[in-house]
Amino acid sequence: MSRVFILWNESYNVGITTIDTQHKKLVDILNELYESFVDQTSGQKLSGILKELTDYTVYHFGNEEQLFQKHGYPQAKEHLEEHKGFIARINAFSAELNSGKTKLTFQLMNYLKNWLLNHICGSDQAYVSYFIDKEL
Ligand code: FEO
Repeated sequence: MSRVFILWNESYNVGITTIDTQHKKLVDILNELYESFVDQTSGQKLSGILKELTDYTVYHFGNEEQLFQKHGYPQAKEHLEEHKGFIARINAFSAELNSGKTKLTFQLMNYLKNWLLNHICGSDQAYVSYFIDKEL
């Protein structure tokens, strides 16, 4: 039985190579987190993967936000709010996990998966038509 949590689908691509590569990397990290979760590996290892997820998410959001700024994307403000909300949520969860107040659950794994895929397929896809004629 496959233990892959998220299978990349070509329909997730936004057509900007650097962004698609970063989205795939985020999916890879989430799959790694899921595998460790299912294997019931130590909280320390889970915390490490969650930190990698947080750091890479911040890096990726920063890249998108630079593109928005450089090209004057009109929906940038709303998009940044979504990014900010997600980072706040995973930071809060990481703090609870590190202090032993909570554990990783299927519910949280599903939240992470659904948020990421909804964001990539929704708000991220929404900027494709704006960037299509820009030289990226
Ligand atoms: Fe690819 Fe807006 O995050």
